[in-house]
Amino acid sequence: MRSAFREAFGVEAQAEGHAPARVNLIGDHTDYADGFCLPMPLRCATRVAMARAPAFAARSEGHAASGFDPFGPPRGDWTDYVAGPLAELAKAGIEVPPVAVLVASDIPQGAGVSSSAALEVAVIRAALALAGTPLADADVARMAQRAENLYCGVNCGILDQMASAAGRMGEALLLDCRTGTGRLVSVPAAFRFRVVHCGEARRLADGVYNERRRAVEEAASILGLSALRDAVPDDVERLPAAVRARARHVVAENARVLAAVAALEGADLSAFGRLMTESHRSLATDYEVSTPALDRLADAMLAAGAAGARLTGAGFGGCAVALLPPNIDEAAWWGQVSAANPEAWLVAG
Ligand code: GLA
Repeated sequence: MRSAFREAFGVEAQAEGHAPARVNLIGDHTDYADGFCLPMPLRCATRVAMARAPAFAARSEGHAASGFDPFGPPRGDWTDYVAGPLAELAKAGIEVPPVAVLVASDIPQGAGVSSSAALEVAVIRAALALAGTPLADADVARMAQRAENLYCGVNCGILDQMASAAGRMGEALLLDCRTGTGRLVSVPAAFRFRVVHCGEARRLADGVYNERRRAVEEAASILGLSALRDAVPDDVERLPAAVRARARHVVAENARVLAAVAALEGADLSAFGRLMTESHRSLATDYEVSTPALDRLADAMLAAGAAGARLTGAGFGGCAVALLPPNIDEAAWWGQVSAANPEAWLVAG
């Protein structure tokens, strides 16, 4: 990063930030209902190097942008994911001088493994290092989420930013999205997760995402609850048909996350796998965020011997995650999955 920075801007980098991608093992579309999620960091990551400069400038993968301004309106391009976090830092009273920013990442974009959250978190970490101000992981995550909500116009929950800011390699993170806190849960060595892209880019589905979120909020308000986190299965059946299936997913998914943590702690691989597969069905039928390509991929993962498989993240394309049983021949498994899904590719675990 240091020599790339020198080459790009002709000066030395003064600070760096780093943040990983994530796979969500279970618990999707629960974060904005104050619920539970279980993400785990991936090896691919985003790095950001920064130095004070006469004016704001940014470079990423050959794209150069000058004149972007965190104190001005969003530009509707990738620099919003740099400017938004800087704007949030300034709002929090942290000094944000004009900076040159270099971004390098091996996270596949539009794959649903949180490339945008990783960029936001890495920018915040680099800017904090430059200012010499430490900040707790949960505060970094909240700041990154606000940047995405307010500056980038995506009404996402806290899952991706918390996973990227507070996750630890090789461990799962049980997130309680009501309190904004996480508990690390160790993953037994026998649990091998594989993340596979279905070959179909995650569609720009912000409109559908926001619509699902509204349905969930409406269901909570009909029940007189502040969030669906507090609903029980009987409540769901009292809801009007228009929001019932969406609420059923959220309520059942929250219970599945807690059961999955128990399965992880008890090293019960088949129970964990079953919960993953139930989660996929619920996301596909009750929440309707899967696609034919994701369904085909999850089915092929199971047919080839996975203990469980599900789409991961928002859905609408992108990735699925499989849990492999201990004695499986992984090359044969992948051979079978990729034969049924020629467009699919493995994401670095
Ligand atoms: C996207 C959002 C998250 C979360 C997931 C679905 O990744 O950014 O906040 O809602 O979808 O679980």
